[in-house]
Amino acid sequence: MSRFVEDLILLSKAERPDFLQLETVDINTLTQELFAKAQALGERNWSLDKIAQGKIVVDRQRITQAIMNLAQNATQYTISSDTIAIGSSIKKDQIKFWVRDTGEGIKETDQKRIFERFARAAHSRRRSEGAGLGLSIVKAIVEAHHGTVILQSQPEKGAYFCLVLPINN
Ligand SMILES: Nc1ncnc2c1ncn2[C@@H]1O[C@H](COP(=O)(O)OP(=O)(O)OP(=O)(O)O)[C@@H](O)[C@H]1O
Ligand SMILES: [Mg+2]
Repeated sequence: MSRFVEDLILLSKAERPDFLQLETVDINTLTQELFAKAQALGERNWSLDKIAQGKIVVDRQRITQAIMNLAQNATQYTISSDTIAIGSSIKKDQIKFWVRDTGEGIKETDQKRIFERFARAAHSRRRSEGAGLGLSIVKAIVEAHHGTVILQSQPEKGAYFCLVLPINN
């Protein structure tokens, strides 16, 4: 119950101007931290795709929360022989952080809907115990950073969720 309430409170705050606590963050360090934290979620073939170098101004805790939500989902829809990979890459004006997995994937018809509050894919093999707020939280955090979330997925081939954040310099 308490995580459900916390999640709802977070969503209700997400449009406030003080929602983010911005700080300068080293991308390499953050990526390694995210990777280390995610690995604690379960036994999978964890892999680090790529690490960007440089500094960005973001809310470190919120970005961590977003990636951990994605990693949690990835863990939920994979089995121990599957791969889950995390990575970051940087271009002049944008930074990407992603989580990809080789699990059951998401049908095209569900791909938009699952970002809505309380939404789950129609016939997931595993029912999640959560309320279905995780991806709406990811989206809220990314939008507070003026970014977007990209999802690419095919059933049985896995899912790729990528946070794309603008770099303002
Ligand atoms: N990596 C993934 N692979 C397959 N399906 C996924 C993946 N990530 C999300 N989904 C689908 O999207 C739905 C919504 O995800 P979301 O994180 O919003 O909610 P949840 O995980 O069900 O619950 P909560 O995050 O509140 O605990 C999931 O129930 C699942 O059907
Ligand atoms: Mg979730």
